[in-house]
Amino acid sequence: PDLPIDEQTGCLPYDPKWEFSKDRLRLGMILGQGAFGRVMKAEAIGIVDGEDVTVVAVKMVKDCTDKDQMMALLSELKILIHVGQHLNILNLLGAVTKDIRFGELYVIVEYCHFGNLRTYLIKNKAHFEDTMEDCENFMPDVKKEPVSSPNKKGPYYLNIAGGPMGSADVLGPSLTTKNLYCWAFQVARGMEFLASKKYIHRDLAARNVLLAEDNVVKICDFGLAKDLYKDPEYHKKGDGPVPVKWMALESFTHRIYTTKSDVWSYGIMLWELFSLGGNPYPGVEINEKFIGLLKSGYRMEKPQYASPEL
Ligand code: ADE
Repeated sequence: PDLPIDEQTGCLPYDPKWEFSKDRLRLGMILGQGAFGRVMKAEAIGIVDGEDVTVVAVKMVKDCTDKDQMMALLSELKILIHVGQHLNILNLLGAVTKDIRFGELYVIVEYCHFGNLRTYLIKNKAHFEDTMEDCENFMPDVKKEPVSSPNKKGPYYLNIAGGPMGSADVLGPSLTTKNLYCWAFQVARGMEFLASKKYIHRDLAARNVLLAEDNVVKICDFGLAKDLYKDPEYHKKGDGPVPVKWMALESFTHRIYTTKSDVWSYGIMLWELFSLGGNPYPGVEINEKFIGLLKSGYRMEKPQYASPEL
C-alpha cells in the first residue's frame, strides 16, 4: 500500500463503467505520435452528459501485437481510473477494451485545443507581453470558477496559435506574464492532486502539459506508457532513454523518484514557461559532466520573465 501507484498497476482493477463502444467513435487526424504510441483527434457520440458529440483525443499503440506496449497503455488506463478526476490533469472520458485480446485498446481522454505548452510558447512568443495586468486574480479560486478566464484582448491576434497540426483557431488565450503564472499555478494544483493520490509523474515538463479552452492547463502522459522516444530530450542511459535535464540528481544517480523529484521537474518546467519555451541549461551539453556540474551546485539563471520571488 505504500508503493506509488504506478508500481501497483498489475493489482489495479479496470472498471467497466468506462467502456465505450467503438461504433460511437469517429477517428480523425493524428495529434502526435512516438515510436510506440499514437494520439488521434476524434469525435465521440454521447461520451459526455449533455453533449451529443464531443471532440476527444484517443491514445492507442502503433503496433497492437506488441504486448509490452499494450500492457503499458493498459497501465495508464488503470492509473487514470485510480487517481480520479481533476481539472488540471488530462482526464479519462472512456475506453475501448472489449477486444483487447485482439490487440484493440483505445484510451479516450479530453482534447486540448491548443496543444502542449512548449510548442504553444515557441509559436506565440512573438506576441508575448510582459504584463501582469489584472494580476490580482491570477490565482484562480478553486471553489468558484476554477481558472481565470482567457485574456480576450483586442482582435485575437493569436490566431496563429494553432492547435496541434495547425488547426485553424480563431480565439486563443493571449500570452502575457500573467498567463504564465496562471498556468504555473494550475500545474502546481494538478501535481498536488497527483501527489495526494500517491502518484509520481516522473516526466513533468512543458511538453507534457496541454492547453485547453478557457486557459485551463492539463498535465498529461501518465503511467508506464511514457513514449520516451518522441523527443530528442530523452537521452539514452542504462536501460532506457531519460529526460536528463528535467531529472532530479537522485533520480539520475540512484533512480529514486518521489514527489520531491517531481518538484524538481516542476522547477525546470517553470524555467521553460518563463523563458517562453526555451531549452533548459542553454549552452550546456548533456554528457557525463552534466551531472557533475549539477552536483557541484551549478544551477540555471532565472529566466527572463520570472520575478526574483518565483
Ligand atoms: N496531443 C496529445 N494529446 C493531446 C490532447 N489530449 N489534446 C490535444 N492534443 C494532444
